[in-house]
Amino acid sequence: MQVGSVGSDAREIARAGDFVRFDKVEKSYDGRTLVVRQLDLLVARGEFLTLLGPSGSGKTTTLMMLAGFETPTRGLITLEGRDITRVPPHKRGLGMVFQNYALFPHMSVRENLAFPLEVRGVSRAEIGERVTRALDMVRLGKLGDRRPGQLSGGQQQRIALARALVFEPKLVLMDEPLGALDKQLREHMQYEIKHLHERLGVTVVYVTHDQGEALTMSDRVAVFNDGRIQQIDRPRTIYEHPDTAFVAQFIGENNKVDGTVTALGVGEATVTTAAGQAIRAEAGPGLSLGGRALVSLRPERLSLAHGADAVANHFPGTVVETIYHGDHLRVRLEALGRDDFVVKAPVSGSEALVPGRTVDIGWRVADGRALPIETPA
Ligand SMILES: Nc1ncnc2c1ncn2[C@@H]1O[C@H](COP(=O)(O)OP(=O)(O)O)[C@@H](O)[C@H]1O
Ligand SMILES: [Mg+2]
Repeated sequence: MQVGSVGSDAREIARAGDFVRFDKVEKSYDGRTLVVRQLDLLVARGEFLTLLGPSGSGKTTTLMMLAGFETPTRGLITLEGRDITRVPPHKRGLGMVFQNYALFPHMSVRENLAFPLEVRGVSRAEIGERVTRALDMVRLGKLGDRRPGQLSGGQQQRIALARALVFEPKLVLMDEPLGALDKQLREHMQYEIKHLHERLGVTVVYVTHDQGEALTMSDRVAVFNDGRIQQIDRPRTIYEHPDTAFVAQFIGENNKVDGTVTALGVGEATVTTAAGQAIRAEAGPGLSLGGRALVSLRPERLSLAHGADAVANHFPGTVVETIYHGDHLRVRLEALGRDDFVVKAPVSGSEALVPGRTVDIGWRVADGRALPIETPA
């Protein structure tokens, strides 16, 4: 894999104008270990880009370098073509939202929203108007006189969002802004932020470790691992066509079946397991004939219907257990050398899926992705 490589989608967006640019940026806090390595990143104007990855993968450090709270050890960051690598945070004119809302507790909601405008020398009359508009935008128009302590977590986070947007910044940075909210409110806020972004046309760089959040909200997702971007693409591409085993593993659920590449054609590979079962799958980058590979299979793309011979791949499996999830049935099977093979099946017509029963598991070539097995660096 090419480090910090950009997909074709990425190149297309970059041509639309690179608004933010990271050029071979590296960061070390202790002068020995790099927590961000050789980072090349382009953010287009108006884009919603999410940095996604496990804890410690360098997302916050990357965002902090863009905000100006951290300085790169090497490399260059530009905003609209201007070198900002060493420009202090308050001169970058960015809006920011973090997990802990960081509202001023002794000020009313309106005073909190007025603050960024006051420091920018906006006139009294205009401040009043803009604060009212920002409050309406997050649908909290009635709560302007309250103090942050008198608001729920979700309301405080909406105020923090309004405060980051009230001075109409060109770029807004958000670091796990919904991390402290419960699931339902978090999902609601995801849509709210997404719609605000669409309405305002502001550029957003968003950090999360939650893949569902990244897929739902973003124009593009950059998947971080160990200080590097493994893949940067549209959510659908990331999910359907992961470039690396790490990305397949980190985004969504997948069954991994490993074997050896026994045929490699245009866009398609055959991976043969130790037991001699040959699986045809879409070929990811970096495969070599005779090399080790795994096939990543999404549980919701597999079917347990009879007559699976209409599709390219069908293998026998033995049902181990079924778990009812309301909107689907989770079926665990022994199949393809694994005892944790999972298929998500529709609840209707699932009566035959009883433990001990042998069934046919089928899927199309395009529903499996063959990827090289990563050897630790
Ligand atoms: N201020 C700091 N001083 C020293 N090490 C840090 C500091 N901030 C982060 N790190 C280290 O840098 C690595 C990346 O951290 P971070 O960027 O916060 O990752 P993420 O946001 O993806 O969880 C981690 O190993 C973390 O421990
Ligand atoms: Mg972080």
